[in-house]
Amino acid sequence: MNFSISAALKARKGADLLVIPFWKGKKHAEPAFSSVAALHRHVDAPIAIHDFHGKEGELLLLYVSGEPEKRIALLGLGAQEAITVEKLRRAYAAVTRMCHKKKIREANVAVPECPALAKQDLVRGIVEGLLLPNYVFNALKHDALKEDKIVLLHAVNLIGVGKSELAVAKKCAAICRAVHMARDLVNGNADDVTPQHLADVAQGLAKTCKHVKTTVFDKKRIEKEKMGLLLAVNRASFRDPVFIITEYKGNPKSSDHTVIIGKGITFDTGGLNLKPTGGMETMRDDMAGAAAALAVIQAASALELKVNVTAVVPSTENCIGSKSYKPGDVYSSYSGKTVEIGNTDAEGRLILADALAYASEHLKPSRIIDLATLTGAVDIALGSETTGLLSNNDVLADLLIRFGSETNERVWRLPLYEEYREQLKSDIADIKSTGGRSAGCITAAVFLQEFVGKQIPWAHLDIASTAFLNESKRYLPKYATGVGVRLLITLLENL
Ligand code: BES
Ligand code: ZN
Ligand code: ZN
Repeated sequence: MNFSISAALKARKGADLLVIPFWKGKKHAEPAFSSVAALHRHVDAPIAIHDFHGKEGELLLLYVSGEPEKRIALLGLGAQEAITVEKLRRAYAAVTRMCHKKKIREANVAVPECPALAKQDLVRGIVEGLLLPNYVFNALKHDALKEDKIVLLHAVNLIGVGKSELAVAKKCAAICRAVHMARDLVNGNADDVTPQHLADVAQGLAKTCKHVKTTVFDKKRIEKEKMGLLLAVNRASFRDPVFIITEYKGNPKSSDHTVIIGKGITFDTGGLNLKPTGGMETMRDDMAGAAAALAVIQAASALELKVNVTAVVPSTENCIGSKSYKPGDVYSSYSGKTVEIGNTDAEGRLILADALAYASEHLKPSRIIDLATLTGAVDIALGSETTGLLSNNDVLADLLIRFGSETNERVWRLPLYEEYREQLKSDIADIKSTGGRSAGCITAAVFLQEFVGKQIPWAHLDIASTAFLNESKRYLPKYATGVGVRLLITLLENL
């Protein structure tokens, strides 16, 4: 996306569309941008006859002459007293959806005058609203369908702001690019986005992004490291597992270090505890945590954040076959603890356990955050609006809750009471991998916690219900959402 600015309405150049914001007033819509007076001959009539009220996300398209654009869109922002960054996102997303329908590539966008919000928050809401839905996954469509192809919004000129707001817009655009990268990885065919492909992407980041280094452990090295749980899950796959470590060092003098572990199951059949029809079709999304972790590295480098952050991605398919690992059998983890397999479909916690133990032992983390499409239970608990949060540390948990609400990638904390550990008791091994139906999202996290080094602040984000949508909603497209990227980048920006 190309961003530019015009200080005033009359300084703007031609485009396909001009967007003018309005508040919902007591009697009729009221301009949120004072220079709109210059456009009164176009906008007065629809407002006077109540064809446009300025309600949240309301959009009225006018075809005009004598202006640098052939179209003017009146955009409603709702009541001025109630405006929030999230409401801006939702309202401006409606603009992008309309641009897609009309194949509009260039828009002049007047920035509302709104003392209640800081200018940079205004710009953030607008830019995220415009860019988050400005996404399409076309890679698997044949050229014959080109006619239907969505034309993406290409250039936005913000009117009424200066250079510092332009800088904010460009930062937001870099973050949205990372969100789109995460979505592409999740949406891609499971047969294309394989463990080796994730490793290639991580190696690519090391080539193209500043201060980024990638190390990939292949199967031999994983065997040498004795990551027995990652190897167990991998057994029935003809594709080798990988263990990816991608570091961004933006503050080499500091010892502060955030480790982000992303679940990288590139396809989850369930293994011998095979998933039923209806439960397997979307399981290419089971690496959404890995995609977000790698995208965070890309964004951190693009923004040149003064932080140190490492993405760790254990990755394999979870397949079924004569080499499958078996329910009831006991496998040794990287940490040395032995695990009785309760269900081969609970594979995510196994590969994360080895990653958590490895990161705790070798990466000197100040904090570990794992992102994983881990349980169906989190969908029952929180649905697709909210990510599950479980943490051993109140400070870290509160930060995630705060930035979750700022980015609207909201998280809700569930408890890790030690009594839940009883559900994971094994008579034959140190721990059992599953704890039965009740509190499924919690017992998964209780299992993970066993592998986190003592004293290390750790948070687990269960994104199973937020990473992938069966229908588009607001500024989120159908399928992959890229959830976690904006949340974690915002956390890193504020550390
Ligand atoms: N990948 C799934 C969780 C999932 C479910 C992600 C739906 C996205 C949408 C995970 O590996 C899994 O199958 N978990 C099991 C655990 C159970 C067997 C203890 C589940 O939640 O059913
Ligand atoms: Zn599974
Ligand atoms: Zn899974």
